[in-house]
Amino acid sequence: MTDIQFDDRVAIVTGAGSGLGRGYALELARRGAKVVVNDLGGSPSGVGASASAAQRVVQEITDAGGEAVASTDSVATRAGGAAIVQTALDTWGKVDVLISNAGFLRNNRFEDLTDEEIDPIVDVHLKGAFYVGQPAYRAMRAGGYGRILFTGSSSGAFGHAWQANYAASKAGMIGLSNAVAIEGSAYGIQSNVLLPNALSRLEEVMTPGYMEIPAFAEALQSTDFSFADGRMTPEFTVPLAVYLVSEACTATQGIYSSNSGRYSRVRLAEAEGWVSPAGTTPPAVEDIGANFEEISELRDFSLPAHNYDEFTIAAKVARARGIHS
Ligand code: NAI
Repeated sequence: MTDIQFDDRVAIVTGAGSGLGRGYALELARRGAKVVVNDLGGSPSGVGASASAAQRVVQEITDAGGEAVASTDSVATRAGGAAIVQTALDTWGKVDVLISNAGFLRNNRFEDLTDEEIDPIVDVHLKGAFYVGQPAYRAMRAGGYGRILFTGSSSGAFGHAWQANYAASKAGMIGLSNAVAIEGSAYGIQSNVLLPNALSRLEEVMTPGYMEIPAFAEALQSTDFSFADGRMTPEFTVPLAVYLVSEACTATQGIYSSNSGRYSRVRLAEAEGWVSPAGTTPPAVEDIGANFEEISELRDFSLPAHNYDEFTIAAKVARARGIHS
């Protein structure tokens, strides 16, 4: 593969003052991108603000001969999102790449989550992705080219105790990116979701209260972390993120995972299921109960490309079973 470069590309990385975002910004800049380093500079639980986080990374980039500008606006408001994108437009006149990455944690039991723990998490992760994503998309559409990477989480895709607020927001990235990818296909804009894994300052707020859930504690204790040793660094996730926002990457509407140097694609897949008898009489609840094993069986998967594709697949399954002509 030829070198992957970002010369003449303008990239925005939100939450780029530390951890994964810093890694993305440094690598993009090293490969020639002009980078808006956005970071509000708050704590790992989203308290406070400081301009130094973004400025430090800009300094690192410029010291290495790259081009970068700091943005200390919050992704969690519409005005903040607009200001972040405007920084790119004012400085370099366009936006080619967006890595929506900013975020923090406020973990608690599902039943105890307060509005102070739900709203800011939804605001920064889910709404923040809209607030930065929409103006960035408009700029990309004007330029006829764009690469968007939304940051999901295996917490959202697969589940994690004490993170209902965060998991719901992160799972939302999948629906968001699917829609953006389909719409963006008309304008040269690709959109994917990354499920990263890296030890970062977010560990500080991963209070282990969730160990009170017996099944989860057991699962955690029996987890084999041996492969992760020394590989849970942002540097192991950076290459996948940077590839996904490169011109070389033609993938869109995908979900990709980075875990300790194992890189893979994740999909919501649909099993064949049970088909109710021919005709327009709906099944009874009891029919669902009687066939629940078949409904639940995970085999013969299909991967609907979009909402309506599911209808085509259902008709195909029904036809194969002689229930539909
Ligand atoms: P981090 O705490 O090092 O970086 C997140 C950055 O976002 C911080 O520098 C913070 O100041 C900034 N930020 C927070 N609120 C902001 C706002 N309103 N506006 C602008 N910037 C804001 O954490 P890390 O681990 O690098 O996380 C990056 C992303 O990856 C987050 O979205 C996180 O949820 C996600 N993630 C991380 C995983 C991991 O294993 N580290 C696993 C799955 C997802």
